[in-house]
Amino acid sequence: MVKKSFLYVLLSVLFVAAMVLSACGATPTPVPQATEAAQPTEPTTAEFAVGVVLPTKNEPRWIQDETRFRDAFAAAGYDVQILFSDGDSAKEKANVESLISQGVQVIVICPQDATAAAAAAAEARDAGVKVISYDRLIRETDAVDYYVTFDSVSVGEAQGQYLVDKASGTGNPLYLYAGAASDNNAFLFFEGAWNVLQPKIADGTFVIVNSSQAVGLQDKATLTRDEMGQIIGQVTTDWQFDVAKNLAEANLTAATADDKGDVFILAPNDGTARAIADVFAADADVTSYVVTGQDAEIPSVQYIIDGKQSMTVLKDVRTLVADAIAASVAYLTGGTPEETTTYNNGVIDVPAKPSVVVTVDQSNVVEALINSGYYDASEFTGLP
Ligand code: BGC
Repeated sequence: MVKKSFLYVLLSVLFVAAMVLSACGATPTPVPQATEAAQPTEPTTAEFAVGVVLPTKNEPRWIQDETRFRDAFAAAGYDVQILFSDGDSAKEKANVESLISQGVQVIVICPQDATAAAAAAAEARDAGVKVISYDRLIRETDAVDYYVTFDSVSVGEAQGQYLVDKASGTGNPLYLYAGAASDNNAFLFFEGAWNVLQPKIADGTFVIVNSSQAVGLQDKATLTRDEMGQIIGQVTTDWQFDVAKNLAEANLTAATADDKGDVFILAPNDGTARAIADVFAADADVTSYVVTGQDAEIPSVQYIIDGKQSMTVLKDVRTLVADAIAASVAYLTGGTPEETTTYNNGVIDVPAKPSVVVTVDQSNVVEALINSGYYDASEFTGLP
């Protein structure tokens, strides 16, 4: 770890925050709060000791988080340890133990499995380390200090709203897909989508094709976690491309020609959206499809430009990273990060300050992702 004066760190963090804000342009992204940072107390040890544990390198989403973390820590003049769990909760726990043994004071964890991560969080808590749950909530433990997140219910609402806005008439075939049941976010995304889609299923705009559980619950405006779990169990992609592809193929094999034509697909994220879209595009009886996504992954932005994916939800990772650093600094200076709401993790209400998200499709892709400085135009071909 590089040592610097703490004031310098705080100024650097504020500088990063300012860069994030300016780069966000019109996006109403909250800035990391520096209330505590304004009147710092020296931390008990001199080092800025933060470790980050991310779930997998198999998805562009988490590689992007790694890059943005490295950029932000480098701008602040610090090394950071970023460890990947390779989709394995045991490796995640070993990563946390390694960081604890190296004397970090704050661990930022994005859990591979929400409940399995509770043991690692408890170990960190016992060692006096602050635990920040990053993007995904660690469940069933009181050993989580803070949750850095986007408003995940609003991600699902944005996806549902996009499908609603593109549909006209009645009887439109609707295919539902969800994330991994081991990820609390899968429930929040589904909850948001259901909030918007259910009234349009009830009024006949959409007809659910691929989930008998969802059909059985379609008259309920609000679902319990268990009820969502029943639907998710039937339409989960497990956040994996192959699972998504195989499920979409099985759904189309079982569907009649009437269930095809112009279809609407709730896909939970970009990776699964691309896999599912490719399957629907290859079916001769599918005339057109509208498919959702999230993360603004580079391959999906290219799919949007090419007309192969309809939309994505931009979750500006720079904001999340800046929030995680601001929360870490708050703890290291004896403060507490800003709280605007809480998320219940099954045991406690975890303080959080969720960030807003932005819907992106062909109509605003340049403005939201290129002109904002999020990506360089050279990453893409055929930009409008
Ligand atoms: C994240 C998404 C991501 C998904 C799969 C979710 O918890 O919020 O951004 O696409 O996991 O990794």
